[in-house]
Amino acid sequence: MQIVRNSEELARARAELAGKVALVPTMGALHAGHMALVAEASERADHVAASLFVNPAQFGEGEDFSRYPRREDQDIAMLEEAGCELLWAPSVADIYPDGFSTKVSVSGLSERWEGEARPGHFDGVATVVAKLLLAVRPDVALFGEKDFQQLAVIRRMVGDLGIPVEVVGVPTVREPDGLALSSRNAYLSPAERQQAVALPDALKAARNTLQGGTAVATVVRQAKQALVDAGFLKIDYFALVDAATLEPLDEPRGEMRLIAAAVIGSTRLIDNLAV
Ligand code: PAF
Repeated sequence: MQIVRNSEELARARAELAGKVALVPTMGALHAGHMALVAEASERADHVAASLFVNPAQFGEGEDFSRYPRREDQDIAMLEEAGCELLWAPSVADIYPDGFSTKVSVSGLSERWEGEARPGHFDGVATVVAKLLLAVRPDVALFGEKDFQQLAVIRRMVGDLGIPVEVVGVPTVREPDGLALSSRNAYLSPAERQQAVALPDALKAARNTLQGGTAVATVVRQAKQALVDAGFLKIDYFALVDAATLEPLDEPRGEMRLIAAAVIGSTRLIDNLAV
């Protein structure tokens, strides 16, 4: 695997790749969820490229930018093993050189849920993903459904700006007990790890009761109670939403998604489930 550290090296390496190129953008601390993106990327393209960049612009003040797990050697070994050919691991100065003053902001979709809990987060995501896509110019870019709102924001941004790339969402990979894989699971103590499974459990129970005809408001109330009972300290949201617009639904209708974010100990977890 060729590792490039700045935009000039990237441009040279990219020019050597003939045929279809897939990009897997990451912030590192890779796990089986990322590897599912790489595997799907290999199915869809002749060459797989990945980026590794812990993007300061998508972390708010007091969030975990400085303690976000960084394990570059392990990430490189995993990507190599999975057949990734090119890794772009730029510095902050390469992505945001002195004088950088542009922000990509997707209104509407970015404002609720994660956007409300983490002001500015999606501007940071949209800006860096636009830069990554414009620099790598992949035919396909892959993102996990685990960050369901992020995927929707990126699809919108790519459509609105006419960036010539196919955006592919890849289903969430879960631990055997159902917890969604996330780099932030590393923050959980053993006790919190046990309690954390209440999040996917609450989503599954909510889906089942919704499908059984229980009213949305009751389902959401029960799910929040189950999370509190399991030891979650704060529930940012638990909602049934339209899968495309992410608008909240009072009644089941069309393509739906249950989405949730809650805090256990000092770790904020998010998850979602198709209904
Ligand atoms: O999902 C992530 O890891 C990040 O938000 C992304 C898409 C790589 C942008 O920094």
